[in-house]
Amino acid sequence: MTILVTGGAGYIGTHTLIELLQAGHQVVVYDNLCNSSRIAVQRVEEITGKKVDLIQADICDRQSLDQTFSTYEIDAVIHFAGLKAVGESVEKPLTYYQNNVSGTATLCEAMSAAGVKQLVFSSSATVYGDPQSLPIREDAATGATNPYGRTKLFIEEMLRDLSISDPAWRIALLRYFNPVGAHPSGLIGEDPQGIPNNLFPYITQVAIGQRQTLSVFGDDYATIDGTGVRDYIHVVDLARGHLCALERQNSNPGLLTVNLGTGQGYSVLEMIKAFATASGCDIPYQVVARRPGDIASCYADPSLAHEELGWKAEKGLDEMCRDGWNWQSRNPHGYKPAV
Ligand code: NAD
Ligand code: UD1
Repeated sequence: MTILVTGGAGYIGTHTLIELLQAGHQVVVYDNLCNSSRIAVQRVEEITGKKVDLIQADICDRQSLDQTFSTYEIDAVIHFAGLKAVGESVEKPLTYYQNNVSGTATLCEAMSAAGVKQLVFSSSATVYGDPQSLPIREDAATGATNPYGRTKLFIEEMLRDLSISDPAWRIALLRYFNPVGAHPSGLIGEDPQGIPNNLFPYITQVAIGQRQTLSVFGDDYATIDGTGVRDYIHVVDLARGHLCALERQNSNPGLLTVNLGTGQGYSVLEMIKAFATASGCDIPYQVVARRPGDIASCYADPSLAHEELGWKAEKGLDEMCRDGWNWQSRNPHGYKPAV
């Protein structure tokens, strides 16, 4: 198949490109590079030995989308493109609704016009808000707590309506839990701009000495040690899930909503300990106040993904930490040259 990968230069996108290319698919990356680098796509070419066309354009630009669909014979779209910083979404909600929600509507219009009706969408466990019970199943109540999360919820609803309006659409809504780690080659990985918002890249930057101390946001939650519990999933496992979703769509039309998580939760202190062991580095930390909007625990019931996609996460916490450290230590400045 030929797959258009929006946001394909980003963290999860690049890892998915590798899985697609290694499975024999052709890929075309469509990315405005607002949060990524051309070098990441070149590294994918280096790892796979295959050529990747990169179109630097915006999903809100209908003309560029139409041009892309007329240049390539696209069979399906994996749609990663989106803004994802929770704090920024609170400050600039309209930017998030415009980029994520309107951008997705424009993409779907262009797909429809081109007769391409197979779509895999990056949703998030953030749509569950503060879960009422654990592990979280796909039929749990939804309710996001910030504009970023609401863009994911609105897009999910929009795609459900689209699927009802035209049963020819094949749509997978993949709800990711917390992707971490990197490709084992150490050539690609997460490269946050500025101060990382998320735990794992913050830990790796403390380990490499770029940041002095990790702030642990609260130790008074009702969890194993009082710190927040999340379902961390190796990004290569997550990437593989997209391939399984595409394969399932080939024999099943309609819409599927599925969790991609491991089912296993780890606390912040457990993560610090595991990373220190894998890297051999000390991770100094101090406990500070809770982060507003945070929840105590969040982990998936991943059984539907196993039943429907034949997928389950295979890599454990040690591999997440080992591969994350391999990437960070080999690329202390990410894709940027050393200054
Ligand atoms: P990322 O920022 O590394 O990748 C997103 C890519 O989309 C970037 O390369 C960026 O340049 C591109 N992009 C953004 N807006 C665009 C636009 N208007 N037009 C074209 N390209 C655009 O993020 P990621 O971590 O790889 O996440 C990929 C997707 O998965 C996002 O939709 C994100 O919301 C979702 N997601 C991520 C996580 C996570 O923790 N990383 C968790 C759940 C869901
Ligand atoms: C955050 C986002 C969520 C998004 C997810 C994946 C918020 C409120 N939520 O969730 O919408 O879907 O990332 O991108 O931003 N922690 C620290 N110190 C840090 C950073 C994090 O102690 O410097 C703790 C957090 O309190 C949490 C855990 O580490 O308990 C994981 O945090 P993070 O990586 O930001 O993920 P989420 O909280 O799941």
